[in-house]
Amino acid sequence: MSIPVILDCDPGHDDALAIMLAVADPAIDLRAVTTVAGNVTLENTTTNALRVLDMVGRPDIPVAAGADRPRARALSTAASMHGEGGLAGPLPVEPSRGPSSLTAVELIGQVLTEASEPVTLVVTGPQTNAAAAIEALPHLRHRIARIVFMGGAVNLGNWTPAAEFNIWVDPEAADVVLRSGLDLTMIGLEVTHQAWLTDKHADAVRGKGDCGLFVAELLDHFVGFHQERFGWEGAPIHDAVTIAHLIDPTLVTTVFANVEIELGSELCVGRTVVDRWRVTERTPNCHVGLGIDRDRFVTLLMDRLVTLT
Ligand code: RIB
Ligand code: CA
Repeated sequence: MSIPVILDCDPGHDDALAIMLAVADPAIDLRAVTTVAGNVTLENTTTNALRVLDMVGRPDIPVAAGADRPRARALSTAASMHGEGGLAGPLPVEPSRGPSSLTAVELIGQVLTEASEPVTLVVTGPQTNAAAAIEALPHLRHRIARIVFMGGAVNLGNWTPAAEFNIWVDPEAADVVLRSGLDLTMIGLEVTHQAWLTDKHADAVRGKGDCGLFVAELLDHFVGFHQERFGWEGAPIHDAVTIAHLIDPTLVTTVFANVEIELGSELCVGRTVVDRWRVTERTPNCHVGLGIDRDRFVTLLMDRLVTLT
C-alpha cells in the first residue's frame, strides 16, 4: 500500500530531489505539493516545484503556493546557496502550467478531506504553511497521519551556530508545530549531514535522459557549493531523507524526546532544544533522527532517480 503524502517545500536543490524521489518510488503516493518562501522567494519556489514536476512527467500533481514570508519576521533566504532562482545549475525553463488557484492551506485541506485515509505531511522548508494549516484546519487534524520534517539539530546549527536554516527562518511556526501534539518526526542535521552525494553521483546519472542531466546539473552546483564553502567532499541531500524515511523506516534511527524551539534568545533563536537524555521533566513530543545508514540511503536515492527518464 502506498503512503499518501503532501510535500510542503521550498525548492531548493535538495527539495527538488525529494520531489523526484517521492514521484519515483511506488511506496509514495504524492497527492500534492505546496510551496513556501525559504531557500528563495515564494514565486521562485513555486515555479521550481512546477518545473520539477514537469521534468518527472507529473504535471497532474497539484501545486499550491503558500506563505511568502515567515509568520512573525522578515524573510531571509538561502539564495547564496541555491542561486537567486533557487535551482542554480540546470537551464531555467518555464513550467508548463501555473500553480493552483487554491492557497497551500486550502489545497492541504482539500487533500485531507478527499483522502480515504490519513495523509502524511512532509515539510522540507520553513514550517510557515504547516503551522497555518494546523491552526486553520482543526476539524481535519485527525486526517493528518503524521508530520515528517527536515529541520533542526540535536547539536550544532548550519545557518547560525545554534540553529538549522528551516527552523531559523520561521521559529514561531516551528513552535506551533512542535506544540501541536501531532505525531512528529524530526529529520535534523545529525542525520542529513551524513546523507551526502558527490561528483561521482552526478556523473552516474548524467547520461541517463533529461532527468538524469537535470539531476547531474543540480548536483554540479550543489556539490560544488559545499566543496567550496565547507571543504566537504559532497553535498547533503537534506530533504530527500524525509521521503527515504517514509519509504524505508529502517534507514534512520530515532529517539522519542522533548523538542522545544528557542524564541527569546537573539544568539540562539531557532534552536531546536532536544532533551536527548531526558534531563528535564518536559514531555517527549517528537521522534528525533539521530543517524542514518548512509550507504543504503544513497543506494535507494540513486536507484530511484535513474528510473526517471
Ligand atoms: O538546512 C537545510 C534545509 O534548509 C533544507 O531543507 C534546505 O533545502 C534548506 O531549505
Ligand atoms: Ca528545503
